[in-house]
Amino acid sequence: MSAMADELLRYRADFSILQRTTYLISNSLGAMPRGVYDAMKEYADTWAHRGVRAWEEAWWMLAVEVGDEIGAIINAPRGSVSVHQNVTTTEAIVASCFDFAGPRNKIVYDDLNFPSIMYFWEAQRSRGARVHMVKTDDGVHVPLERLLDAIDEQTLLVPISHVIFRSSYLQDAKAIIEKAHKVGAMVVLDAFQSAGSVPVDVQALNTDFATGGVLKWLCGGPGVGYLYVRPDLGKKLEPKLTGWFAHQEPFSFEAGPIKYADPPFRFMNGTTHIPALYACRPGLKIIREIGVERIREKSKRQTAKLIALAEQRGWRVNTPRDPERRGGTVSIDMPNAQQVCQELLKRDILVDYRPNAGVRMSPHFYTQDEEIDRAIRAVEEILFSLKITAP
Ligand SMILES: Cc1ncc(COP(=O)(O)O)c(C=O)c1O
Repeated sequence: MSAMADELLRYRADFSILQRTTYLISNSLGAMPRGVYDAMKEYADTWAHRGVRAWEEAWWMLAVEVGDEIGAIINAPRGSVSVHQNVTTTEAIVASCFDFAGPRNKIVYDDLNFPSIMYFWEAQRSRGARVHMVKTDDGVHVPLERLLDAIDEQTLLVPISHVIFRSSYLQDAKAIIEKAHKVGAMVVLDAFQSAGSVPVDVQALNTDFATGGVLKWLCGGPGVGYLYVRPDLGKKLEPKLTGWFAHQEPFSFEAGPIKYADPPFRFMNGTTHIPALYACRPGLKIIREIGVERIREKSKRQTAKLIALAEQRGWRVNTPRDPERRGGTVSIDMPNAQQVCQELLKRDILVDYRPNAGVRMSPHFYTQDEEIDRAIRAVEEILFSLKITAP
């Protein structure tokens, strides 16, 4: 497709790093939109000029507004998304709504989850959780039947990734959620690697919880994770990880136990992370304006191109060939992948390397086809020079 025909390339002007680098790393940190400078200035001006009055005038409701802006991208009803510092914290908030004393105390997940999520749930064993880890054979995906079979009448929660961070495998969230509901379990869907790159509809999926962050595909910067709680659950759950923002009347400063507010405040705890909330809005606005369907269409085409170019060169691709089972990243395990990654970085081709995955390359809506060609050509040159200089 020519640059003329690729309408999304007009957004390149909003991202200054694209003029200086080949930016193929939105799976890790999305490029910063220019609007963040103004947003941060607005934050500083508000603090400087309005002082403590800022809470009442803008800051108290900011978390709710940003939650709704994220909610619009994952089709969550207004008021069903709360925002937090990161995904790990949101898992802790979910966990704190339950105890592990009864027979339904099993946590089922797979070993391709993001490690932080595994560390958190493994640590709940000491609190009575029985953690069942379903294993992958190929490092790319976990067989669906194996995962479904592990979800049984004793399962409380199923915390899984929608798109696997290593391989970009897109899990069948609907089938997993349906099985969980059939046996009375609930799913915590980690949409970090899908939302913004792959359409996510939390209502169509009927997931119980969804979580993720804005710093990758949503171009929102570090410091904002989100938690969607299905509204019927949101009304009755009582997170024990709680605080004064979750109180019905926070300014009564009542002593004693919490009286829970309605969602989304119900799932908050202490003072919200105001600077990060300012910083994330320009990226969210651009993603909403473009629409994830269009991003997905382009992503399927450019990831297919990357896979074809890698396969033509005989490099191992650890990402599904089927576009319907693939997210926005292509993991290429060429020879000497870790060293290749370091050399690419020296050439301002920004990618990363993950063990058992290879070099991860992630085109986004702002990526030109030529940049993909450039990255692949650079890998070829690097491999050639490594061969020549190898002892
Ligand atoms: C699927 C997935 N979940 C979670 C995280 C990060 O979790 P946290 O926000 O707790 O740092 C990442 C990557 O950073 C990820 O790829």
